[in-house]
Amino acid sequence: MRGGAQSHLLEADDGNWYVVKFRNNPQHRRILVNERLSATLLDYLKIATPETALIQVGAAFLDANPEVHLLLGTQRIAIEPGWHFGSRYPGDPGRTAVYDFLPDALLPQVVNLEDFRAILVFDKWTGNADGRQSVFYRALVRRGESGAPAGPGRPGFVARMIDHGYTFNGPNWDFPESPLQGIYARRLVYEAVRSLEDFRPWLDLVMDFPEEVIDQAWKGIPPDWVEGEEDALEQLLERLFERRKRLPDLIGSCRQAKTDPFPNWK
Ligand SMILES: Nc1ncnc2c1ncn2[C@@H]1O[C@H](COP(=O)(O)OP(=O)(O)OP(=O)(O)O)[C@@H](O)[C@H]1O
Ligand SMILES: [Mg+2]
Repeated sequence: MRGGAQSHLLEADDGNWYVVKFRNNPQHRRILVNERLSATLLDYLKIATPETALIQVGAAFLDANPEVHLLLGTQRIAIEPGWHFGSRYPGDPGRTAVYDFLPDALLPQVVNLEDFRAILVFDKWTGNADGRQSVFYRALVRRGESGAPAGPGRPGFVARMIDHGYTFNGPNWDFPESPLQGIYARRLVYEAVRSLEDFRPWLDLVMDFPEEVIDQAWKGIPPDWVEGEEDALEQLLERLFERRKRLPDLIGSCRQAKTDPFPNWK
C-alpha cells in the first residue's frame, strides 16, 4: 500500500483482508501502539472506522511470500514474525473499490458526513499530527434508525476514518497544537457546523470518557510493542485523560486559522 508505514494488504485466516502495519515498520514501533490505542477509543466513541485486529504473521508465511518485506532506501528489511496491526479492508479487494478521495461533487452522497465532525474531536484530543484521512466505498444504505422507513436502501458512499499512526504525534508521544491540526482538506464536510453544539455528542462522550476504557486500551496492546516503554505509555495516557477538559477550546481554536474551516459558525 502507499504510505510511510509500508503496509501490506493481506488475507487473514478469518477470511477477511487487512491493511497490515508491521511492528518493525520504517516509521516507528510506537505507530502500532498509537493505532491500537486509537482503535479502542474510537470504538467507544462509535466513530466510523474499519474494524481492526491483531494479525499474527508467522515465519513460514514470510518464507513462502518473499514479496512481503520492507524497504529502507534500497535495503531490503525482513518483517519480524509476530503480532502486527491490521485495518480491515471493507469487503473483497477483488470486488469492492475503495477510494482515498472523493471529489467535492460526490461528497454530499456520503451518508455519514457527521463522522468528520466526530473525528475532529478525536484528532484534537489525541493530538493527531497527520492530515485527516479516510476511505470511501459505495454501499446501499438504509437510514432506518432516523425514522425514515427502512426501504431497500439507496446508493451512497460510506466514509471510514483511517490512519491513526500519528495520533500522539507519532513516535513523539506528545500533543502538538495548532488551529488547523486535525482539519480535513475538503472543507465541505464541515458545512453543517454552526456552533460548538454541532460537536456536542462527541465532546460530551470525550469529556466523560471512562478511565476503564483507557485501561482497556492499554491492556489490548501486545507487550512486545511497548517493552521498555511502559512508563512513557502510562504518562501519555495520564496526559490524554487530563486533556479532555480542554476540548471545547481546542475545537474553537480552529476558527483562528487563516481561513476559518467553519464559515457557517457565526
Ligand atoms: N481499512 C482499509 N481499507 C482499505 N484501504 C485502506 C485501509 N487502511 C488503509 N488503507 C489504504 O492504505 C493506505 C495506507 O494506509 P495508512 O494511511 O494508514 O498508512 P501510512 O503508511 O500511515 O500512511 P501515511 O504515509 O499517510 O502516514 C491508505 O492510503 C489507504 O489507501
Ligand atoms: Mg496515511
